[in-house]
Amino acid sequence: MEQKRTTWGSNFGFLMAAVGSAVGLGNLWGFPYKMGSNGGFAFLIVYIALVILLGFAGTMGELAIGRKTGYGAVGAYKALCKKHAWVGALGVISAFIIVGFYSVLGGMVLRYMLGYLVGIFGGDGFAGTGTGFFEHFLYKPGSMVLFLGIFMLINCLIVMGGIKGGIEKFSKIAMPALVVIIIIIIVYVLTQDNAKAGYIFMFQPNWQYLGDNFFTVLRAAAGQMFFSLSLGMGIMLTYGSYLSKNESIQRNSFIIPIADSIVALLSGCAILPSVAAFAGENYGKGPGLLFSTMLQVFDNMGGTVGCIMGFLFFLLVLLAAITSSISLLEVCSTFAIDRRVKKGKAPRRKAVTVVFAAAAFVVGIPTALDALGFGGAAIKAPYEILGLTTKSEAYALWNDCWLDFYDMIAEGFLMPLAALSMCLLIGWVYKTNMIKNECEIGGNKFKFYRFFDLMYKVVGPIIIVITLIAQIIEFFG
Ligand code: ALA
Repeated sequence: MEQKRTTWGSNFGFLMAAVGSAVGLGNLWGFPYKMGSNGGFAFLIVYIALVILLGFAGTMGELAIGRKTGYGAVGAYKALCKKHAWVGALGVISAFIIVGFYSVLGGMVLRYMLGYLVGIFGGDGFAGTGTGFFEHFLYKPGSMVLFLGIFMLINCLIVMGGIKGGIEKFSKIAMPALVVIIIIIIVYVLTQDNAKAGYIFMFQPNWQYLGDNFFTVLRAAAGQMFFSLSLGMGIMLTYGSYLSKNESIQRNSFIIPIADSIVALLSGCAILPSVAAFAGENYGKGPGLLFSTMLQVFDNMGGTVGCIMGFLFFLLVLLAAITSSISLLEVCSTFAIDRRVKKGKAPRRKAVTVVFAAAAFVVGIPTALDALGFGGAAIKAPYEILGLTTKSEAYALWNDCWLDFYDMIAEGFLMPLAALSMCLLIGWVYKTNMIKNECEIGGNKFKFYRFFDLMYKVVGPIIIVITLIAQIIEFFG
């Protein structure tokens, strides 16, 4: 069952890569806007509860299965039981779909960052459209596809470099840089008038809102948690398969979700108070928060300061996006490499990575062409192709644009299904002792066994099933 495998250069390098995978657009884009549209504090409290109940156990389960078997998502479940390979396949398919649309957003972030860079040197990096650049850029299909391609190419080159020489090397530079930038932004925004309103929105308890909207908030927070912690898409499992037996899985499984949640909070503290100070407390602007409202924020800061802060902000988002998307692409590459090695063939990492990156680029193209559902797009929206007469406006939008459609498949169903299957398999089939034994290798004592046993067997499955039902109601009415 076990095979000799490359390992991370150090535990620090592994942590930077794993936290880097977790910290991404989910934190810097999804977290503030979902918090903005789900009652601020109400969302935060449910999110934290889910990280405690599911986040630690999920991360530990994935890392342990990966390290124990020495394979990526599909190979790992296959090694545990041939009939369970499909659970890993759910993760690989999710990762593949997500890296496609994620790279469209990553490309947009890259474009914005360059726009501000031009601004710092006195030029106009936003084609004379100022704060209307979002609406302008969405209808430039050539540019959208070009930046999708550049972003995908960056990912491809890093993943081609391998676990140690590509992913670890990049993450060890990107993650500390990200923390420094986010702190600079928070400190700057703190000194601005009315920034306080953003903090009040985040931290002032509003139990009434939570009571009235519990299932909506739960659905949003659970989807966000899986996505943000990179769970259910085979990432932690794949990264775990390259983890040395000397490292403590349990310690790493605590550090990753905590670090991810801290960065999510920090990004809330960077974005929501900025919006309060510079964009009239317009928090609930949905996905447009990052690409539209933040433009207003930096525009209202004005001059070179606005350009410098805008550049730093989008550099921060870009670094976070790259460290996440390389992990998604790595899930696919490891899947193919495992298969080749098992058949006695050479891994050919570079070739398989190019093939997956090219295929994911194609998957991303509809997202780049459909103006994120704002209408008047260069291609038909999913609801038109599916022959549905209306957009699902009454419910969570899942068929109005390709991003929401892909997101519904991956974050809405495949990922929770993969997580549910993993919980049930660990809890009832492989048994939690398997995780405990793997974690105790090297003399590391497994703590909180009863808690984790209960999470895998009962609490985790119940929460995921409730979330899935809420998801179905939300999507389909
Ligand atoms: N965990 C990654 C993110 O939050 C995918 O963006």
